[in-house]
Amino acid sequence: LADHAHCEVKAATTALSLALKNHDHLEIVEALTALAKEELDHFARVVSFLKRRQLPLGRPPMDPYAARLRDLTKGLPPSPLGPAVDRLLVGALIEARSCERFKLLLEAWPAGEDPDLQTFYRELFECEARHYMQYREFAEQISGASPERLEARLHVIADAEARVVAELEDALPTATVHG
Ligand SMILES: [Fe+2]
Ligand SMILES: [Fe+2]
Repeated sequence: LADHAHCEVKAATTALSLALKNHDHLEIVEALTALAKEELDHFARVVSFLKRRQLPLGRPPMDPYAARLRDLTKGLPPSPLGPAVDRLLVGALIEARSCERFKLLLEAWPAGEDPDLQTFYRELFECEARHYMQYREFAEQISGASPERLEARLHVIADAEARVVAELEDALPTATVHG
């Protein structure tokens, strides 16, 4: 839960920083601001789960995965769609991974255990899936590129992320939720 809480803060700050980077597109700024608010609401709700369980939040953990993700596209051949699109596609990928982790958590959920938390995670699973789609749509809007071209670039980025995960396998905590 503590790790998850910090990840929600990261998701909110990522959305806000991308809102500012896309200042020429006010509709995207608005949508990313709303998305950041949602992530902050998730944070507040995870904190309330911690509080009810009398668990500490603690400081944000060292996160080599997030650090590597920030530089993920620097090592790739440059995209004709430009770095702004790459940043949004990395955002999409982070949301997709987050969604996948909730799916795994829900599949492994022991029957009858923590129904409130299970319901919350079901909601988050859907929410993160929607965020993934939204980031993809923002990338489409600013580039005007076809879904096929965006998909192709997303695959290149996802392959790079898979290499990062493989390299960090031993260093990563086993129970991270977001990126
Ligand atoms: Fe979230
Ligand atoms: Fe999200």
